[in-house]
Amino acid sequence: MPHSTWREYGGAADGAQYSSLRQIDRNNVSKLQHAWSFSTGDERGYSFNPLVIGKTMYVLAHNNSVVALDAATGKELWSRPLRAKSLLITNRGLNYWESKDRRDRRLILSVDNALRELNAENGQPIEDFGTNGSVDLRDGLGRDPKSLTLVQSYNPGRIFGDLLILGSATNEEYASGPGDIRAYNVLTGKLAWSFHTIPHPGEAGYETWPKDAWKTVGGANAWSGMALDEKRGIVFVPTASPKYNFYGADRKGSNLYGDSLLALNARTGKLIWYYQMVHHDIWDYDNATTPMLLTVRHNGRKVDVVAQASKVGFVWVFERETGKPLWPIEERPVPKSDMPGEETSPTQPFPTKPAPFARQAFTVKNLSPYLEPEEREAITKQMLAARNGGLFTPPSTVDTVEMPGNNGGANFGGAAIDPDHGYFYVVSKDLPSMLKLTLAAEPSKSGPPEVRGRGLFEANCSLCHGSDRKGRPPAIPSLVDVFDRTGDEDIAKVIHYGKGSMPAFAKLGDAEVRSLLAYLRHPERAPESIAAPTTTNAAAIDPVTAHYRSGFGFMFAQSGLPVIAPPWTTFTAYDLNTGDIRWQVPLGEVPELAAQGHKDTGSHFPKTNPVVTAGGLIFAGSRDRKVRALDSSTGKMLWEAELDAAIEGMPAIYEVNGREYVVFCAAARSTTHTHAIPGHPASQDPIHGAYVAFALPETSGKR
Ligand code: HEC
Repeated sequence: MPHSTWREYGGAADGAQYSSLRQIDRNNVSKLQHAWSFSTGDERGYSFNPLVIGKTMYVLAHNNSVVALDAATGKELWSRPLRAKSLLITNRGLNYWESKDRRDRRLILSVDNALRELNAENGQPIEDFGTNGSVDLRDGLGRDPKSLTLVQSYNPGRIFGDLLILGSATNEEYASGPGDIRAYNVLTGKLAWSFHTIPHPGEAGYETWPKDAWKTVGGANAWSGMALDEKRGIVFVPTASPKYNFYGADRKGSNLYGDSLLALNARTGKLIWYYQMVHHDIWDYDNATTPMLLTVRHNGRKVDVVAQASKVGFVWVFERETGKPLWPIEERPVPKSDMPGEETSPTQPFPTKPAPFARQAFTVKNLSPYLEPEEREAITKQMLAARNGGLFTPPSTVDTVEMPGNNGGANFGGAAIDPDHGYFYVVSKDLPSMLKLTLAAEPSKSGPPEVRGRGLFEANCSLCHGSDRKGRPPAIPSLVDVFDRTGDEDIAKVIHYGKGSMPAFAKLGDAEVRSLLAYLRHPERAPESIAAPTTTNAAAIDPVTAHYRSGFGFMFAQSGLPVIAPPWTTFTAYDLNTGDIRWQVPLGEVPELAAQGHKDTGSHFPKTNPVVTAGGLIFAGSRDRKVRALDSSTGKMLWEAELDAAIEGMPAIYEVNGREYVVFCAAARSTTHTHAIPGHPASQDPIHGAYVAFALPETSGKR
């Protein structure tokens, strides 16, 4: 697999986040210089992994246009606006395909839940692809396409021959779409195969769900990244939890192929093997990183393996062809749910090796030393009253501690490898969650706008802002008094585009946003949600139709920092030949704490996508606006530079005219959870985004 250029998301088809270039190395990295910058020319957030084909770089900029740049100078060659209606755009990377004679060269991406193609020479849309140049991804999922508001993911997919293999995103809701893995012909847009992650009748695994679940239950989707073993023709697909995230009475069973690693025949979509990491997930414990393909020495022989990191904090290592685990995996008993209608799995799988990279328990003994005294007291009280039975404690109608939290452990782009030496690197975010299930009002399609708005709010917003709209200031603002601070137009913008760590709700149409605004203005006009069940009325509830919901419950303190003791972000290096940890270091810092001498906390809001090089380096940018190079054998920082905006996406490493470049997409908002920390850049600041490339000075002669 070529690793000397950057032709695909993650570098190559295997998504290894690895470059075999070695011009920049441990000895000279300190001389790295700014080579060029290309301003995005707007105030949008981007977390894009640039592609480099020959001497041309492709990026997303100019209000969501695909822009071609000269990769050596950053000079713009052309720009093609995508004119998305919904703002749903493949925004982490792009697919590139070329015909054998290289006369036909295409860029492929998803916009508004539809596939589109551009001519890679000039950005012209390819009109004879699909129907009038597009393929609706909502078709063929066995649901009314109009009922599916979110299908495409931000991940671009994988090219294999003339096929584009695609995962999907789904809503976080009940009745979300199913997570079918699909392959489309790049030339015609015709569907070549589908793999049903929620099996249809007659397919293996159908028995792990209630009858006809595929028609009503969603998720089990692949949104993070796929790895292709081109030689074997196997695509490795990591799947996420089935929906709804935190309550599964309407999906009794182990729910194959949710939270699994799938090995599929890339030509046909046929299942070769699978492994399920979480049975009947009610914790939102997705396999959220790209699987990594490496070769290791194990018991004296060379073995091609696939390694998968997850939100739970484990690394799972399997023989690539058979799915046989490299080290034993044990099914261990876990706590049982007492929610009406819920049947949790009596056991969950635990790998005996390698050791986890994330902390998997959180008690009052692990509270952060940076909490204010009153807050420490309040959180201690809440924690001591909460259920806290360790990993896989089921959420319930009382507070339940979840550690790693549902946004902790490893996340997209967070894993990278040195494929030849069997080294595996992973970024962990140590953030606990407090879950609590309540029965909330259902989104109503009729009635006054305030009532519809309330339903939409419960379904989309209460997760973070709370059913009482009080949020958890300052990390999550209260919306009770939101009109004192801002107006309709700005709120609509926040909903459409997202803000800081609030995701964009591009799927909500104008009418829905109007209903939300109406509700936020006059919540008193919308009736109360259904009361939580008591022991007397619990029996009257039909668990299959009762839609319990919980917020994500991220446990941030008033300061915006996690309530758990640091480090909040770690970077772990494994040697998968032995299964041992080589080193583990905190990654990044909180500038205000670093100024007081506390430099080993790790960044408190990471979205770090590392890239490893044959030069013995790991490049990564983070939300503290810094880009860094670490020594891959020790984790020691060898170089850093500060940019004008935060970095969320993955760097690309490439070579033009014999010169090696590292390019970062610095176009994300700075950390958002530090309003209360004086001197921190406010998240309201406009983003001055840019693609910024570094290289060794040209004057340093023959390198
Ligand atoms: C995943 C958590 C999350 C979800 C879900 C979420 N928000 Fe937010 N929201 C936030 C955070 C965090 C902020 C603060 C962003 C910042 O300032 O950096 C915020 C900010 C806002 C603001 C700006 C408030 C102000 O004081 O300026 C509004 C308005 C808002 N959210 C409305 C909504 C609505 C409406 C929904 C549902 C459609 C929603 N949010 C869903 C986390 C969330």
